Amino acid sequence: MKLITEGAEASIFLDKDRIVKKRHKKSYRIKELDEKLRLFRTKREAKIMEKLRTIGVAVPKLISVKEKDTTIAMEYVNGKKVRDVLNNSNCAEIIEKIGIMVAMMHNNNIIHGDLTTSNMIKNSNKIYFVDFGLGFFSDKTEDKAVDLHLLKQALNSSHSKISDKCFAAVVKGYMKDNSDSSEVMKRLEKVENRGKYKGKKK
Ligand SMILES: Nc1ncnc2c1ncn2[C@@H]1O[C@H](COP(=O)(O)OP(=O)(O)O)[C@@H](O)[C@H]1O
Ligand SMILES: [Mg+2]
Repeated sequence: MKLITEGAEASIFLDKDRIVKKRHKKSYRIKELDEKLRLFRTKREAKIMEKLRTIGVAVPKLISVKEKDTTIAMEYVNGKKVRDVLNNSNCAEIIEKIGIMVAMMHNNNIIHGDLTTSNMIKNSNKIYFVDFGLGFFSDKTEDKAVDLHLLKQALNSSHSKISDKCFAAVVKGYMKDNSDSSEVMKRLEKVENRGKYKGKKK
């Protein structure tokens, strides 16, 4: 097994054609809480991955879940992080696809919880989503709007020069296939205004 990346929450190993994601101990957390959290997020991640596969969102195929070791094994997606490939000429196309897939998740009341371009992998013409440990199930417009807001913030911070163009593409994709997209977009405005207000008061 070869360590390919050490994230904030987990170590990611490549083992032949599979990825092994192991959530490691966090010594700054109380032991019992740490164990509960890691187990919860491991189970949650596996559950959401399985659900998304059934609705046709591209996610790595789940191979096994070892609750005792808070470890998930999944298919290796051969590709690059969207974060590393996104540019001015491909963003409209790539991001519109992402918008369509986020709408599919939201239509099924699945909130990703960490929509950044590091959690998306581009493999030929498909965009795969990973990292569902913060995901949850919700039909609330507010939760969907906050999910999009986080994506917008991620685009602003990682792709600042093209973020407006990118977010317009997210919205274009999202509006194509979401039954309550106008409500979510309206709510997004509120979420953003709330953010601005908070910022001013500080
Ligand atoms: N199934 C996979 N195939 C290929 N690369 C992956 C896979 N899962 C994760 N990665 C890579 O590992 C990185 C970290 O994985 P991630 O699940 O996002 O963990 P973290 O919680 O540490 O962010 C991802 O950004 C991606 O580059
Ligand atoms: Mg991640």
